[in-house]
Order: sequence, then C-alpha cells, then structure tokens
Amino acid sequence: MRVGLLTGGGDCPGINAVIRAVTKSLLSQNGAEVIGIEDGFLGLVEGRTRPLDWRSVSGITALGGTILGTTNRFDPLASADATRRTLANASELGLQAVAAIGGDGTMTIAHGLAALGLPFVGVPKTIDNDIEGTERSFGFDTAMATITEALDRVQTTAQSHGRVMIVETMGRDAGWLALEAGIAGAADVILLPEIDYDLELLAARCRERERRQRFTVICIAEGAKARGGQQSVEQRIEGRPDPVRLGGVAHVLREQLQARVTTEVRATVLGHVQRGGAPTAFDRVLATQFGNEAAMLVRQRRFDRMVTLADGSFGSVPLADVAARTRHVAPDHPLLRCAEQIGICLGR
Ligand code: F6P
Repeated sequence: MRVGLLTGGGDCPGINAVIRAVTKSLLSQNGAEVIGIEDGFLGLVEGRTRPLDWRSVSGITALGGTILGTTNRFDPLASADATRRTLANASELGLQAVAAIGGDGTMTIAHGLAALGLPFVGVPKTIDNDIEGTERSFGFDTAMATITEALDRVQTTAQSHGRVMIVETMGRDAGWLALEAGIAGAADVILLPEIDYDLELLAARCRERERRQRFTVICIAEGAKARGGQQSVEQRIEGRPDPVRLGGVAHVLREQLQARVTTEVRATVLGHVQRGGAPTAFDRVLATQFGNEAAMLVRQRRFDRMVTLADGSFGSVPLADVAARTRHVAPDHPLLRCAEQIGICLGR
C-alpha cells in the first residue's frame, strides 16, 4: 500500500512526532510505502513529494514545526481545475490513502476530497484546541506552557510597578488557550471570545485591585471583544481560504482601561512564539498516539475519519462531523465556574 502524508494549516509543536509515528506504524505493521507530501495540499497539486522511511523520521520527535513544510495558501476545492489537478496528481503518485495532519480547514478539504474518491484519515492539529470531536489536539499543551511562562514573567513587572499588565493569546474564535493558560498563570482577569466583556465592570475590578493589591494581570484571547464592540482584525490576507488574522485586542483594551484607571496599563501580544519550539512531553506522547491511531485507521481502511480523544479514550469520528465547525468554550464549562469561584473576573 502506498500512503501519502501531509501537514496543512499553521505549524504546531508535535507535528513531527505525528509524522514519525504514522510512518513507523505503517512501515512496521503494514509494510506500506510512505510518501511525504511537501507544503500540504500545495505539494499534492504540484506533485512535490519525498519518501519517508525509518531514517528520515528518526530523531524528529523533539523538533517544532513540520519537516514536510506547510501552507494555508491553497485550497484544492476552490476551483474545479484545482480539484481535478489534485486528484490527477494523487492518482499519478499511486496514493491509495492520505493521512492529513491539520486543523478544521485541513479536515474540511480532506472530507471534500474523500467524497471525490481520495481516501483520507485526519489527525487533529492546532494550538487553539478548537477542533470539533476531540477534547484535545496536540500542540495545545505546549502553547499553554509558553503562555503560562509569559504570564509568570509579567507578574513580576505587574507587582513591582503596580501596573495593569495585559497579555494577548492566540486562539482565533475559541478561548481555550486564554482560559487554561490564564488559570495556570494566575491571571486576575481572563477574557474570552465566548464572553463579550463589560468594560465598566472590568475597569471597576482593576480600580478595586489598585486599592487592595496595586496590580492586575489580564489574559485576553485575540478573538475577545467588548460588549457591543468588534473583534480586532490585524490583517486580511486576500486569496487565502481563511483571510482574517485576528490580533491587537490587547492594545485596544489598554487604551480603554487607561482612560478609566490611575495605574499604568501595558499590553503584550505573544503572537507566534506560542506556536514555536519543542513540544512538551505531554504533546509528544499525544502526537505519537494520534499518529499510531491514524495508521490503524488506514490499516482497517476506515477512511474519511479523524482520530480523536474523548473521555480519555482514543477513537475516531467522521470528517463530516468535524468539517467547517469550531469547538467553543461552553458558557457552563466547569473551568469557567471554577475561575469565577476563586475570584477571577471573566468580564461578566
Ligand atoms: O490556528 C492557529 C493560529 O495560530 C491561531 O491561533 C491564529 O489566529 C492563527 O493561527 C494565525 O495564523 P497565521 O500564522 O497564518 O498568521
């Protein structure tokens, strides 16, 4: 069996551990031939591939990014011609299955191509942890660790200077990163895309802390916004499947708060540092298990499915259930209740 392997969307810590696990599992259990496709679906349409063998996937578990390269610039379903060329190339390469490591965009494309006869299995990848059907994607734990460390570091300045320090995380329209890292990093305020914040309430909380404790640390997700306000769009990259890039809400909030509190307010946008670097041990193990589960799906010829972790067990769901969906923080999520009960302000 000849199996293609590609990575789509943004890079993410743990991708290489998945590549290694899928490859080793297919080589040892199936005697399959594994073909690495460069730069995601773009490499598939352009026929850019390289063989993956024991040697090429050796020693990559601890490497951040993806050895295959990735892009979020090309959608094979965007035009009939792109679809035709992608399917023709896959057939010319003799691919009998493709494992796609990616986020919701990649899963949506994989599902579309699977419906046209190219068998896919998916592995959920994103630091945002917002993929439907799985309670965890690999990469999230590493990003959380980076944000937590950043929050620990700004605590020092917040306390020493008696400032309001705002830290902005990634996460698109989901608040998982800000919520979990905010709790881990002892933020006093956590603001999520799922809960529009009440600016006056937030300012009152900062003033109260000014009197009582001198400082406030705020962890805000890039997709958060004030009640009645708009999300902060950093740029629109036309021609991309997903053109909107969020960013900069920390600076908006800094100005809003500075007009309402006495102490100095400062903002830090963490940006792509959250996506870089070596995966944590947790993410390496999760990525390896996901990779092996994906190889098992290929072995069983259970295509058009994505591997999942649900209630602590590995399984899989149809790609149709994942495509074009986002997993949000539910308003009654236990972590929200916990946060509020220990005095963290969620802006509501
Ligand atoms: O989906 C992962 C993510 O890092 C988001 O948190 C962020 O909004 C986006 O990708 C940034 O994308 P890019 O690297 O294309 O700017």
